[in-house]
Amino acid sequence: MSTAQHGLAADIETVRTEALDRLETLATAANATEWESNYLGPRGRVTLLLRGLGQLPKEERPIAGRAAQQLRNELTDAFGPVNERLALEVIAARLVADAVDISLPGRKPTIGAAHPISIVTAELVDIFALLGFQAVFGPEVETGRYNFDLLNIPAEHPARDVWDTIHVETQGEEIVLRTHTSPMQARTMERLQPPVRVIVPGRAFRFEAQDASHEWQFTQLEGLAVDRNITMADLKGTLQEVARQLFGPERRIRFRCDFFPFVEPGVDFAVDCAICDGKGCRVCKHTGWLEMGGAGMVHPNVLRGVGYDPDEVSGFAFGLGIDRIAMMKYGVDDVRAFANNDIRFLRDFAEAVG
Ligand code: FA5
Repeated sequence: MSTAQHGLAADIETVRTEALDRLETLATAANATEWESNYLGPRGRVTLLLRGLGQLPKEERPIAGRAAQQLRNELTDAFGPVNERLALEVIAARLVADAVDISLPGRKPTIGAAHPISIVTAELVDIFALLGFQAVFGPEVETGRYNFDLLNIPAEHPARDVWDTIHVETQGEEIVLRTHTSPMQARTMERLQPPVRVIVPGRAFRFEAQDASHEWQFTQLEGLAVDRNITMADLKGTLQEVARQLFGPERRIRFRCDFFPFVEPGVDFAVDCAICDGKGCRVCKHTGWLEMGGAGMVHPNVLRGVGYDPDEVSGFAFGLGIDRIAMMKYGVDDVRAFANNDIRFLRDFAEAVG
């Protein structure tokens, strides 16, 4: 064995010991990459040893070459499992870092609930459906003709003042925010021939000072029935049934004379207070009665205005205040709570009513 061969054998041994020692200490994937390039890479120690074979005398090269190649194989084999272990540790660390803790409680989505006015409106629509009334809807921005003229309230008539009208347009044709749902009486009769049985839930607007029982925007439910031989008894029976469906089978209703230009005779109607059974309490302001709305027999002028013959047909009409009914039903003591968008009221209400 030549001196050069001796030197190479010693180098191989040195590299083997050093490489295997260091392999034991590798702690990260980056260390592994560095180790590989130090020993097995294109400029690594083993590669350099193999390249150095050319310096040996020709006859010594095969033995030295085999020894160097064996070192390469040995280190490659030893590196494989270490490298794999460190690579798996990287994946495991990332899995831990990116993990979603599925045991944490999720964020509860906010679920909306029906507004009290919508609940009462839906209930009324169902009750009237059982009595044969169809729900129709009309415009909230109305002409003076439908809001007043066809309801027997001509221009300059003093009754026009009581509606506290919000005008949208005063030049040319009078355009208003409807002050009640009654304009749908004429709109419906112009479209249909008797028998007519409709209800009209919807919003109304008045330029009115607000207080606990008055809003400038509120919701009404209009009712209209026109046919041959409709009488006040039909009106009373209908409203009586509605009050019982809404507030319980014991309820009675009361009619008192009132004036609305579009009915004759006209009444205001009330239901006896379900809370105190008519004896008087805070909710009914100690009267025993809760005001529901206005009603009456459709005025002949209104029937004539839409081309009906008042000698052939007659009808009744009524207008309920849905806000006031919702107040009674749910014990809300300020009508403004319904429209001022206070999320605390709406949330409490949703929780209470479910
Ligand atoms: C009317 O609006 C008539 N159109 C009702 C009617 C229809 C009579 C058909 C005859 C035939 P009145 O202004 O009284 O009438 O209103 C009826 C109901 O609406 C009232 O009883 C009340 O419950 C409700 N209401 C009226 N103004 C307000 C307001 N500012 N805030 C809350 N509710 C109101």
